[in-house]
Parts: sequence; structure tokens; C-alpha cells
Amino acid sequence: MKYNHCGRSGLMLPKVSLGMWHNFGSADIYDNAKKILHHAFDEGVTHFDLANNYGPVPGSAEETLGRVLKEGLGTHRDEMVISTKAGYMMWEGPYGDGGSRKYLISSLDQSLKRMGLEYVDIFYHHRPDPDTPLEETMSALDHIVRQGKALYVGISNYKPAEAKKAFELLKDMGTPCLIHQAKYNMFDRWVEDGLLDLIGKEGVGLIAFSPLAQGLLTDRYISGIPQGSRMTHSEFLRPEHLTDEVLSAIKGLNEIARGRGETLAQMALAWLLKDQRVTSVLVGASSVEQLDKNFAAVESPAFSSEELLKIEKLLG
Ligand SMILES: NC(=O)c1ccc[n+]([C@@H]2O[C@H](COP(=O)([O-])OP(=O)(O)OC[C@H]3O[C@@H](n4cnc5c(N)ncnc54)[C@H](OP(=O)(O)O)[C@@H]3O)[C@@H](O)[C@H]2O)c1
Repeated sequence: MKYNHCGRSGLMLPKVSLGMWHNFGSADIYDNAKKILHHAFDEGVTHFDLANNYGPVPGSAEETLGRVLKEGLGTHRDEMVISTKAGYMMWEGPYGDGGSRKYLISSLDQSLKRMGLEYVDIFYHHRPDPDTPLEETMSALDHIVRQGKALYVGISNYKPAEAKKAFELLKDMGTPCLIHQAKYNMFDRWVEDGLLDLIGKEGVGLIAFSPLAQGLLTDRYISGIPQGSRMTHSEFLRPEHLTDEVLSAIKGLNEIARGRGETLAQMALAWLLKDQRVTSVLVGASSVEQLDKNFAAVESPAFSSEELLKIEKLLG
């Protein structure tokens, strides 16, 4: 594994981090989840990303990590960066959703209990909440750091203008924003429209989530929809996303990757990591084999200008 400094901070993150959104809930097979987590750590993946609501059922991915840590991996706690978030609906009533101080502080307390941890390394506000003053949300993040329940804070899914305000507020409070977690992959490039410039200028790291477009940017769907793949069971990736246009782009990109002597997954991740402002790509995986293919991205050859041009043409 190779590591990048997260923005201008002293914290280094692996170029490939592991997310526990899918495949680590109570609905999944615990032994497989444990195997993936151990394998990732053995390969130098020091960063594991969670949120209060990951499962299914919500909360159970944190319980899975807690159990794996308790069964042994926890002896390496100081070699790990564990993150969690609050911001989406987590429990009934007015205090289990949004960006209030009440929600963020109680949610992190619940997350720590589920994981059996005293602190997380990074705590995020998961999405902007237009109904809560940004000052309140950012001061809750600052408070959490002062309580010692998180070492660093981040934001996720914030557009450039609101991210800029959040960075300013946090800086004024003395708790600078470490990282922005944003969706970024070859098929979804919204961060190129202002956010990358902003985080580069402010010295904040960027971790790209769904860097493989949930599996579309791999060979998973080239010859149909395989049994057990995310597209067969997740509300977030459905067969209607696999349009003729998308499939033809996948096939074209796959040819370019073959020409480079690598897999499409490897190329899709390397394409993101070529930008110095991208600290890490945050992948998901349902097997150890997939993870290994994804780690290969850190060894990818540099892109030639012809290859980059071909990719741009394909992406339209
Ligand atoms: N902040 C936010 O709002 C937010 C939102 C979404 C995600 N995230 C974070 O980002 C993490 C990653 O998201 P993601 O799971 O969508 O990422 P992804 O890496 O784009 O997709 C992962 C899925 O792609 C398939 N896959 C991965 N590697 C493969 C390979 N080498 N060959 C074939 N198929 C492969 C697997 O699906 P199969 O199940 O089909 O095998 C895997 O579960 C999440 O776990 C979470 O931590 C954050």
C-alpha cells in the first residue's frame, strides 16, 4: 500500500481505503466480512469508513467492526483510522436525522458503543442540512473533538459554496476540517466543478466514494447481471442504471484498460488517484479477490496523453 497526506494535515491515509456501506451488515455473512477486514489490514489498508446507518440493518456495520476488533484486530487500534458519520435518518422522531447538535452528539455516542471504541479518528457530517444553521452543525463537530470522541472532523456531500463556509467556521473554532468525502468516479465528475479547486486551495483532503460507480466501472456487468451482485439486491444500484450507453462506455473503457495491461477496476481507481488532491479512493468489496484487484491501482502505470484523450472521448 502507498499513503498520501490528507490535505495539508499530518495524517496519512492509504491510497485505497475500505468502506463498509454494503457487505458488512447483520444481513451479510459475518465470516466473509471478517475475512475482508483482516485481509485489507494485512495489505496495509489502515482506513475503514463507516456511518451510523450502514447495514442493513442500520447500525449493524458498526457492530460488525466492533466484533472483529474485539475478536483480535483491535490490538492494532493505533494503526487504524476509523471514521463514522451522522446526517441521514437513523432513528424515529425529530432528533435522529439532519444536522442538529442534539443528533450529532447522541449519534456518535451510539456509534462508539456499537464499535466498542472510546473515540473515532474522523467524524463526519454526512450531508448538508438546510434546516440547521451551519454554525450549529460545525460547532457540534468542534465540540466532539474537544470531548476527545473524534480526533479529526470532515464533511460529506457538501457543494463548494457550503463547504467553503464550513471550512471557514471550523478554522475559526480551531478545529480545521480534515477531509471532504464526495462521490467521484469516471461517470460522476461533479467535484471537478469547483470542489477540487476549493479543497486544493484550503489544504483539505478529498476521499472519493463509490470510485467504481458501485461496480459499474469493473468487469462485473460486462456480460450481464451476475447472481448476487449489488445490482440484484440494492436499492442504490438498479438494472435501469445499466443503459446501452453506460454498457458501451464500460466496454470501451475496458478495452483501454486491457491495452494498459490492467483491469478496468484498476484503471478507474488509478484515473482518480492521478490527481494529487485526491487523498484516497474509498472502495467497497464483497470479496477478498475484488479487494486484491483494487489494490493493484496503486501500482498502475502513468497515463499517456493519448490514453487520457481516449478516456475523455468515451466519457463524453
Ligand atoms: N458519504 C456518502 O454519502 C457515501 C455514499 C456512498 C458510499 N460511501 C462510502 O464509500 C464506500 C464505497 O462505496 P461503494 O461500495 O459504492 O464503492 P465502489 O467501490 O464504487 O463499489 C463497490 C462494489 O463494486 C463491486 N466491486 C468492487 N471491486 C470490484 C472488482 N474488482 N471487480 C468487480 N466488482 C467489484 C462490489 O459489488 P458486488 O456486491 O456486486 O460484488 C462492491 O461492493 C462505502 O462503503 C462508504 O464507506 C459514502
